[in-house]
Amino acid sequence: MIRFDEKFRDELLSKLNIVDVIGSYCSLQRRGGTYWACCPLPGHSERTPSFAVNEAGQFYKCFGCGRGGNVITFIMEMESVDYHDAMVLLCERAHMPLPEDDGQEKSAFETKKKFTDKKRLTALMRDAALFYVSNLKSDQAKKHRDYLQKRGLTKKEIVGFGLGASTDYNSLVNHLKEKGYSYEEMVQSGAVQYSKEKGNYFDAVANRLIFPIIDAFGNVIAFGGRVIEKTDFAKYKNTGDTPIFNKRKTLYNLNGLKKEKQAVGKLNYVVMVEGYMDTIALHKAGFRSVVASMGTSLTVEQARLLKRYTDVVLICYDGDSAGQNATVRGLEILLNNGLEVRVVSLPDGLDPDELISQRGKEEYEKCLNNALPLVDFKLKLVRDGSNVNTVSGKRRYIEESLRIISKCENLTLQEELLKKLRDESGLTYDSLKRDLDRFKGEDGASVTALSSSTDYGGSFSGSNTEIAERFVLCAYVFSEPYAKKLPDECLFSDKFREELMQFVTAKIMLNKPIEQEKLQDFAGEDNLSELMKVLAALSSVEESAREEYFNDCLLLLKRNAALRELASLKERFNNEQNREQRMQIAKRISELTVVLNKLK
Ligand code: CTP
Ligand code: MN
Repeated sequence: MIRFDEKFRDELLSKLNIVDVIGSYCSLQRRGGTYWACCPLPGHSERTPSFAVNEAGQFYKCFGCGRGGNVITFIMEMESVDYHDAMVLLCERAHMPLPEDDGQEKSAFETKKKFTDKKRLTALMRDAALFYVSNLKSDQAKKHRDYLQKRGLTKKEIVGFGLGASTDYNSLVNHLKEKGYSYEEMVQSGAVQYSKEKGNYFDAVANRLIFPIIDAFGNVIAFGGRVIEKTDFAKYKNTGDTPIFNKRKTLYNLNGLKKEKQAVGKLNYVVMVEGYMDTIALHKAGFRSVVASMGTSLTVEQARLLKRYTDVVLICYDGDSAGQNATVRGLEILLNNGLEVRVVSLPDGLDPDELISQRGKEEYEKCLNNALPLVDFKLKLVRDGSNVNTVSGKRRYIEESLRIISKCENLTLQEELLKKLRDESGLTYDSLKRDLDRFKGEDGASVTALSSSTDYGGSFSGSNTEIAERFVLCAYVFSEPYAKKLPDECLFSDKFREELMQFVTAKIMLNKPIEQEKLQDFAGEDNLSELMKVLAALSSVEESAREEYFNDCLLLLKRNAALRELASLKERFNNEQNREQRMQIAKRISELTVVLNKLK
């Protein structure tokens, strides 16, 4: 039997998110800080959701059948296993090696090997990858080999990245059939698709040059395929999301990055590029700390992954694409996860692969060395995009710059940037500083400040948004009579305040008192001063004016939230290829615009 001590258990829990685990058993709907579903627990069926999952507290509770607990008890219930076996399952899920067996008898469960499903898919993908690799040597794959040669890849890269060839629609399917896989498994793996029209199964990346996508543990989890001659098909096609592949949680060449880290320790920086070819070209040129985002906007999961390998990310996107606003906003995700971000600009619209092959790796290295910190890069974009020869152009330039500088959290840096702006604009430091304070904390150009004509009789410091968020939170913490209805969306601009709201929501839902001590524990040392500001918020407004003030604050928060959602929808709209999806997003954008107008 394996013994799991408390330390091990805590480590395991820290690697899991109850929302992900439960979300893989049922579909969770987020409302406010809580996720809801129809109760998935055995023996309880219902039509309306009364099963709640709280992310901040990492617990679940069904208000229908009364059962509740943490992620371990959930697995025990769902899989009908005991504590020990639930731990084994969760370890597998978290990719955490099991503690040493104490040599005593194994549980029947361990020997039964419960993970066959995913293991089968991983084995299938491996077999498919090996098939493509060996197929690259076949006569039919001459075009593929010629293409690789044309792109300057040698045997070393071809082998190192496991590149392969698909040369028709059927061979892979036949090969997998011979290996004993069922059609169902093939389709589930994403490597094979089914055509309803023709009633047959076919290679999902047929006729393409194959880039296997490999996770940090060396498992092939997906394929990217590139066309090698002119066709009407998309240049790249990837196998879709499956039980073992989630595009949003993956980076291309993560396995390579892991090897590099094992060789040299925590990496000084990681270069993030867009494409498969860019990754391979960089690797070939000796820049081995490189991953690709595979052309999509970055996610929190990817940021967290990167953080395990480095503290500094050099963004090196194609030519001008990093200059697009959507991309720049995506990079904030990296900052928010504690990474330092620098943006590499490549000349003449070249991508990293082209730059290296046309101008050499020394030239590329120069570009890396000239990478600008994200805030400088944003300021440069504004400068490049402004016409400072007109009065209004210059005003806009200063305003936009101040807005960017105001969001910079490092005060020393803020001062430096302000001085630079002073030198460029010819304005005095003091007047810029005064204007800067006006921008602080605003979430966007069009956020209206809290009506300054209303005097609530209090005094506070911080931005309007901060003040409003603290006040709203405080009203819930102290169960003020007007703070009855819990907000049903994510309203806060700040991670801690949002989590605090979830924490408070959970207490209110469970009818539990909100104890000051628990709040302090929850905040921890890092957030203690923010917690204090929250708790002091009520007293800054006269009692008789609080209800009205609360409603004003809530309005501002809703507006901010809508603006944030709008921004992210617009980004998704720009990145979405699927027409149906685009229409859905467009619909939501117009609905949201209506909501926003009402909130004015
Ligand atoms: N991509 C994708 N699907 C597409 C286009 C792009 O998945 N239809 C992803 C691929 O991972 C690709 C990356 O986005 O590598 C960057 O795309 P792009 O810049 O168009 O291609 P390159 O990497 O420059 O490819 P190549 O040099 O082979 O033309
Ligand atoms: Mn390219």
